[in-house]
Amino acid sequence: MSMVLLRGRLLSFRRAPLAIDDTQSYLYIEDGGLLIENGRIAAIGEYADIRKAAPENVEEKDHRPHLIVPGLIDMHLHFPQMQVIGSYAANLLEWLNTYTFPEECRFVETAHAQRIATHFYDELLRHGTTTAAAYCSVHKTSADAFFTEAMKRNMLMVGGKVMMDRNAPQGLLDTPETSYDETRQVIADWHGKGRNHVAITPRFAITSTPKQMEAAQALAQEFPDLFIQTHLSENLDEIKYTCELYPEATDYTDIYVRYGLMGNKTLLGHAIHLSEREADVLSETGAVAVHCPTSNLFIGSGLFPMKKLQRREKPVRIAVATDIGGGSSYSMLRTMDEAYKVQQLLGERLNPLESWYLMTRGNAEALSMVDRIGTLDAGTDADITVLNASSTPAMALKMEVVKSLTEELFLMLTMGDDRTVVETYVAGRALKSVLT
Ligand code: GUN
Ligand code: ZN
Repeated sequence: MSMVLLRGRLLSFRRAPLAIDDTQSYLYIEDGGLLIENGRIAAIGEYADIRKAAPENVEEKDHRPHLIVPGLIDMHLHFPQMQVIGSYAANLLEWLNTYTFPEECRFVETAHAQRIATHFYDELLRHGTTTAAAYCSVHKTSADAFFTEAMKRNMLMVGGKVMMDRNAPQGLLDTPETSYDETRQVIADWHGKGRNHVAITPRFAITSTPKQMEAAQALAQEFPDLFIQTHLSENLDEIKYTCELYPEATDYTDIYVRYGLMGNKTLLGHAIHLSEREADVLSETGAVAVHCPTSNLFIGSGLFPMKKLQRREKPVRIAVATDIGGGSSYSMLRTMDEAYKVQQLLGERLNPLESWYLMTRGNAEALSMVDRIGTLDAGTDADITVLNASSTPAMALKMEVVKSLTEELFLMLTMGDDRTVVETYVAGRALKSVLT
């Protein structure tokens, strides 16, 4: 039995904040204690109380004056795109064809997939991210490397072998049959092992023939508990081409509806340019629109109307993500800084409580996993991130005049990055500080 007591300032959300002064939406304990037992949070409260109730000789880690929050969650990224990040392209389709597809072809080599998978998890942990929903490449071995490394670290990860059978280089194509068989094999090999969750992952409608979409549909029917992840309405040229490929569909979203891929376990990357009809469909099916602001700005795809989608009569579920390597940072702090700016440009406000909620509990709710991750509640997994708002000289200087928790949270969003992350605990184990 392993037990450790963390001391520090604790912050955990109870629900989505309604306004910047909504102090009821979160729990904040200035001198908090968090007792971790066998990878789970056993108790949370005032340090003095937790200390009294814990065994005399319990190991203690004093993180004062830092902030202890639930591990950050990244709801959409591509593990084979670590060497695509920072590629210069005019738009999405040029970026995919020029850099992304050629790079993903390299994952046919097991050794390459294994090497990049190791770096991938190191980078997540360095940035305080403890759970992510990721795309592997089309090659089954990339999924094997991805889940093998997740298990070594005991991380709760969602991932899938990409299904794609057209409009890409030969080395990146499967077939309807092989995509079905190999996805089934990935499920058999990995789903439910450790903390792994396999997602059915048709890349997007452009790279799947109708026959492959039927294969994805068959998988979704056979495995209704699995996540489905794909891309939707990221770029105007992409939308036009997609609708030409599926002329019988009413719009882009209708393609996924026709193949039975829309439900409350469906994660739709981007979803920037939705019609009212499409937004209604997302709302009615419970599918999640995953906002990837650094990517949307970097590739020039558009401004995601988050606030508009949230305040509709039929609201759309929202999650947030880096979208590495279209995205330009592994940091969820950098991501939410850009999310803030996107809303500014749309004449909307995204307050710091909302951003912190989204990176933690909000993303866990989008995964329907709030009973396991996304909070510091007793009984949940001890995935925890420790943050220092004075982690750079410039931040320390600004902290001299910061007067409230919300100001501190906003500063970390505005200036924070991997330097801000002091420690990352996965199932109770400190994994950042041991990285080389
Ligand atoms: N649409 C289809 N594939 C991709 C991808 O890898 N990245 C992004 N940003 N959009 C996509
Ligand atoms: Zn993506």
